[in-house]
Amino acid sequence: MQRSGEVAFVDRSVDPRHELTAVMRRMQKGPNRPLLFRDVKGSDIPVITNVFGFRKTVAQSLGLAESDLLRTMVSLEAKGLPVEHVDVAPVQEVVKIGDGIDVARDLPQIVFSEHDGGAYITAGILVAPHPETGAYNASWNRCQLAGGNKLRVRMMPPQHLGRYHAEAEAQGKNLPCAIVIGAPPGLMFSAASKVPYEADELEVAGAWQGKSLRVTRCKTIPVDVPADAEIVIEGEVVAGVREDEGPFGEFTDGYVPVMKNHVFRVTAITRRRDAMYHAILAGGTEDLNLVGVPIQAEIYKKVSSFVPKIRDIATPGYVFGCVISIDKQNEDQAKNAMLAALGGYSWTKVVVVVDKDVDPFDAADVLWAIQTRCTPETGIYVVPRVPSYTREDVRDVHRGKVGIDATAPIVMQQLFERRRFPGEAEIRLEDYINADHNS
Ligand SMILES: Cc1cc2nc3c(=O)[nH]c(=O)nc-3n(C[C@H](O)[C@H](O)[C@H](O)COP(=O)(O)O)c2cc1C
Repeated sequence: MQRSGEVAFVDRSVDPRHELTAVMRRMQKGPNRPLLFRDVKGSDIPVITNVFGFRKTVAQSLGLAESDLLRTMVSLEAKGLPVEHVDVAPVQEVVKIGDGIDVARDLPQIVFSEHDGGAYITAGILVAPHPETGAYNASWNRCQLAGGNKLRVRMMPPQHLGRYHAEAEAQGKNLPCAIVIGAPPGLMFSAASKVPYEADELEVAGAWQGKSLRVTRCKTIPVDVPADAEIVIEGEVVAGVREDEGPFGEFTDGYVPVMKNHVFRVTAITRRRDAMYHAILAGGTEDLNLVGVPIQAEIYKKVSSFVPKIRDIATPGYVFGCVISIDKQNEDQAKNAMLAALGGYSWTKVVVVVDKDVDPFDAADVLWAIQTRCTPETGIYVVPRVPSYTREDVRDVHRGKVGIDATAPIVMQQLFERRRFPGEAEIRLEDYINADHNS
């Protein structure tokens, strides 16, 4: 976790019910820096948030330049590194086992949105070995802090963790599982990615961070967890039980209503002596980077088999759409890029392909390209019926996909050359404007 640098510190006492999130929102709408709340009412654990407010920070955390991020993530994904086992782990400096645990007391009780049905863990990575093969899955899942040793977990089908649990449940067994808070960045991104079901996500995490993930064995369950994490909640997802969970203000900026969801029974909480508790605002800048970058990488993987020169891929606005900026060599490439992206990631509902002189991260520039370069009669594709976002209660709204080719025809490239203004980049306005008109 980030401990210095750009972090903004909050020393005054902050109420975890709404006040903490309100401050976080204002930070995200302003300078968007990481925030460390040192005094959160009701808990002696400081709360860190907005660690990945910028895409550039994602790249830096993996030791990469932003311009190489997607290409490198794709090239490394299949080269998983075996984990390194250690016996003495920082995340086990403080160990609490058994009946004395109360999740409504032992962890910060953050209530995010106005109508949320209670306090939630939003930055927990659920790590579980497959009941048969032992391959590790990792995924982010919100957990409602019910109290005592109970959490309620949301797994949206077809999430892999839900499939692991279903396989254990079919044998009448609970699924041993650990919730990791403050994991090394490689694991944060493998947990957010849709790597193949059979892949071991602890090994993918190692590949992405360029060194094996250090793991240690949990104290109460047969599960390995990152030794250098901040906090680990050990336990099991219970077989044959579902309880009301929600409502929760989720990343689409609306509420998920109460649904019957899984129950997690806590057996231990271990942590660093100076642990920080990571909290993520669903749909905030940090969340959209954590969700967005793996989507961009997945789409890069698919599109690069058709288009050799991709400038970059962005998910501006929201993660159900993407913008692909290409150096188009022939007219087929824009259309193939569009179709590859629409089929390449299930959630992707809107794809815009732009030329290399359009900034895919700048929504206004992308709209400019659509308005000045797209030929609607031939450049807009509607693919009916295909589902994108599969949340049970709204999935019918998310049927059908749209692709927009906003690239200029190659034969007309000269006519579409963007104007440049020599000297513009070097000019300092203050050198030109009279001092008394500066303010
Ligand atoms: C901060 C954060 C919170 C998330 N919360 C949930 C959640 O509560 N339920 C869910 O099904 N997916 C959630 N996701 C998305 C999944 O973690 C993501 O789809 C992941 O790729 C699923 O892993 P899998 O491919 O192993 O199924 C969240 C993602 C992030 C980054």
